Amino acid sequence: MIDRIDGLLKEIEELKAKNMEELEQLRIKYLSKKGIVNDLMADFRSVPAEMKKEVGMKVNLLKTRATDKINELKARFEEQVEADSKPDLTRSAYPIELGTRHPLNIVRNEIIGIFSRLGFVLADGPEVEDDWHVFSAMNFAEDHPARDMQDTFFIESHPDIILRTHTSSVQSRVMEHAQPPIRIICPGRVYRNEAISYRAHCFFHQVEALYVDRNVSFADLKQVLLYFAQEMFGPDTKIRLRPSYFPFTEPSAEMDISCNICGGKGCPFCKGTGWVEILGCGMVHPNVLELNGIDSKEYTGFALGMGIERITNLKYQVKDLRMFSENDVRFLREFEAAN
Ligand code: DAH
Repeated sequence: MIDRIDGLLKEIEELKAKNMEELEQLRIKYLSKKGIVNDLMADFRSVPAEMKKEVGMKVNLLKTRATDKINELKARFEEQVEADSKPDLTRSAYPIELGTRHPLNIVRNEIIGIFSRLGFVLADGPEVEDDWHVFSAMNFAEDHPARDMQDTFFIESHPDIILRTHTSSVQSRVMEHAQPPIRIICPGRVYRNEAISYRAHCFFHQVEALYVDRNVSFADLKQVLLYFAQEMFGPDTKIRLRPSYFPFTEPSAEMDISCNICGGKGCPFCKGTGWVEILGCGMVHPNVLELNGIDSKEYTGFALGMGIERITNLKYQVKDLRMFSENDVRFLREFEAAN
């Protein structure tokens, strides 16, 4: 029996397992209830008394060795599993692609840059507005067609709350809390109930500028417009002002620039006229100053508003307005160089 145990001890020293399943087989073979060690324990009863001590020690040794060996092999497998699940820090990284700015943001930032060089500071207001800031405070008559359901999105349960149809509402938001000098620029999103097509959308973007102080004149407006046009479209750009009407300005004008696509010679973009309209402007109506708490006898001001999509189209000739809101990365990537 001693020899048999010695043989088993040697066998155990050299135990090997390829995987957890094989190891489990070994555990069953040596250490389970019907395993070799238990069998030896059972045989122990028939060992003559004078040998009991030696054989007992050997069987116990065998049990300890077998248990240690199997635990050692098990620990090795577990370490391996853990190592496999750890990130490999030596592996090279995936390339991280840089995003690009949206063309409307590129142009918006450029417009802000130009006006901030003239001392205009950023202002903003809510897109979900009330009728007062969008219309009443901007001198729209009660029955003005722009209030019509066809243009304006109303919040059903609150007829007084609307989605702003222009950024002119920010003029009122600023004037109600500030006294001149006021020199602000407000970019933002506006909403109109229009059928979506290549040339109209139910939301688009505008930039509004407002300057109110003592002795602000139409000449100041004109100079700012010329500076803006030449900074935006190049030093050869010409401007022209046509009389127009807005409830919140008097006098009002629309500004055209010489078509920067054909250089003023006439092309399909400018419909052969050599000019393209880019913004509305005028001297702030005295009613607007008064409605917003500014003394119209002491102060005058000018305001202007333009669509960012329109300016972007002039710069980049985007043919379909819908592309601006479709998030097609192939379209957006085209503006990588302009970032
Ligand atoms: N709010 C006008 C629009 O939505 C644009 C505009 C015209 C803004 C003249 C102005 C302005 O500040 O003076 O079409």
